[in-house]
Amino acid sequence: MFDKEVYAGRRSRLKKEVKAGVALFLANPEASFNYPANTYFYRQDSHFSYFFGIHQPGLAGWIDFDTGEELLFGDDVTLEDIIWMGTQSSIADQAAQIGVETSLPYAELEKKIKKTIAQGRTIHFLPPYRGKVMIELGMLLDIPAHQVRAGSSIELIKAVVKLKEIKDSLEISEIEKAVDIAYLMHTTAMKMAKPGMIEQEIAGTIEGISLALGGPVSFPIILSMDGQTLHNHSHHQTLKEGRMMVVDAGAELPSLYSSDITRTTPVGGKFNQRQKEIYEIVLKANMDSIAAIKPGYEYREMHLLAARVIIEGLKEIGLMKGNTDDALAANAHTLFMPHGLGHMMGMDVHDMEGLGEDYVGYDEHTKRATEFGNEYLRLGKKLKPGFVLTNEPGIYFIPALIDQFRSEGKFTNFVNYDKVETYKDFGGIRIEDDVLVTDSGYRVLGKPIPKTVADVEKTAAEPREWLKKEGFI
Ligand code: GLY
Ligand code: MN
Ligand code: MN
Repeated sequence: MFDKEVYAGRRSRLKKEVKAGVALFLANPEASFNYPANTYFYRQDSHFSYFFGIHQPGLAGWIDFDTGEELLFGDDVTLEDIIWMGTQSSIADQAAQIGVETSLPYAELEKKIKKTIAQGRTIHFLPPYRGKVMIELGMLLDIPAHQVRAGSSIELIKAVVKLKEIKDSLEISEIEKAVDIAYLMHTTAMKMAKPGMIEQEIAGTIEGISLALGGPVSFPIILSMDGQTLHNHSHHQTLKEGRMMVVDAGAELPSLYSSDITRTTPVGGKFNQRQKEIYEIVLKANMDSIAAIKPGYEYREMHLLAARVIIEGLKEIGLMKGNTDDALAANAHTLFMPHGLGHMMGMDVHDMEGLGEDYVGYDEHTKRATEFGNEYLRLGKKLKPGFVLTNEPGIYFIPALIDQFRSEGKFTNFVNYDKVETYKDFGGIRIEDDVLVTDSGYRVLGKPIPKTVADVEKTAAEPREWLKKEGFI
C-alpha cells in the first residue's frame, strides 16, 4: 500500500472531474472453489485499489462530489474469521491508512444509498465485470442485475480514464519493477527453449518466477510453438528444432501494477535463415515504431508505421509485392499482423479495458477503424506524457486466414500466395515492450530484455544462473 496521501490525492482529483452526486466503488468479492473457505487467489478490483488501496473483499468506497464526504463501508472481522484467517486491523484503522476519516458497517451502505436516491442525487458507478458484483450493485441500487452495466456512469468512466491514463513516478517505478521480473521470466524461457522440452515445463517455471518475486502473472501465460494463434494458452507441445517459441508473459506486483512482454526464441537458441529474416522485420517494426513515440502524435500513426515496415520487409523477401502505400491503404498487412500495435498498461495489463476500450484508447478526435485487423488496435488516440503503453508488432502465418483470403482473391496484387503457402508451418513472431511516453519522446521501461538476434542467441546459450547473476540472491 502507498502512503495515505496518494489515495487522498487521487480521490481529491476525482472530485474535480465529476460535477455532482456520489461515486460508489465496490471491492471485489472472493471467488471460491466448491466451498467458500477454499478460495482462488484474491484479486482486488483495480479501480477500488486506485482510490481506496485496501486489498480485501467486503468493502465499499464512497466519494460524495457535492459535500466532499468520503466513507469506507466494511465489517470488522469476527472471532470465527480470526480463527480461520488470522487477525486483521479494524476497518476504522484501515480507513485511516488510506486517509478516509469515517468508516461504517457494510449494512449502513444500503441505507445511505436509499437516502441519496431519495434526495434525487445520482450514484455513479463503473461497469462491473464480475457476476457477483453485478448482483450486489443490482440489489443495492434496485436495478435488475443484467441491467447494471448499462446503468454505469459515463461521466465517472471518463473521469477515471482521465486520471488513470497518466502514470506518476510512483506508478512508473512499480511498472518497472514488474518489467524487471519479466526480464527474468523471459530470459529463463529463452534458456529453456531446447528441443524436447514441453511448453508447460517452461510456462510453469516462469510463472513460478513471477510468484516468487512479485505476485501472480498479469494474465494467463501465452507460450507456444504455435505463435500464429495470438492468445494461445495451451502448453502441451514438445519443442522441436526449426520452430519458434512465442512467449507473451508478465508479472503483477502486490500493488497490482503489471508488465506485458513478448519475446520469440528459436527452439534450440539459434535462428535459421528463414526465421532470422522474419524476425528482423518484426524487430524493425518494433524499434522504428517505438522511436516514433512522442506526445501529440496518435498511436494509430505508430501502428501504421509498423505496418509499413512489415510490408516493406515482406516485399524484400518476396512474400509481398506491389506499391507499399497501396498495400497499406488496402490493409494487406492484416494478413500477417491481424492485431493492433498496442494498448494502455497499468494496474491491469490492458489498463481500464473493462470500462470500455473506446473510452480508454480513443476519443472524440480519433475513432476506431472498422476494417479487419486495424479494428483490433486498442489504443489509437493522441499520446500524452505519462501514458504507459505496449508496443507489440508481429508477423504470423495463420493457415486458415491465408486460405480464406486466397480463396476470396483478397490482396492478390500485394501478396505472393504461392510463396506464403510455404510458410504455413512457420508459426508466428511477436516482440512486445512496455513504453512510457515522456515529455519529449519515450522510454522503454525496465531492464532491457534481449531482443536482437545476437542478444537472444547469446542469452539462450548462457546457463541458467539467473537468480545469482541478476542480484536477486
Ligand atoms: N498479453 C496480451 C497482450 O499482449 O495484449
Ligand atoms: Mn502481451
Ligand atoms: Mn500486450
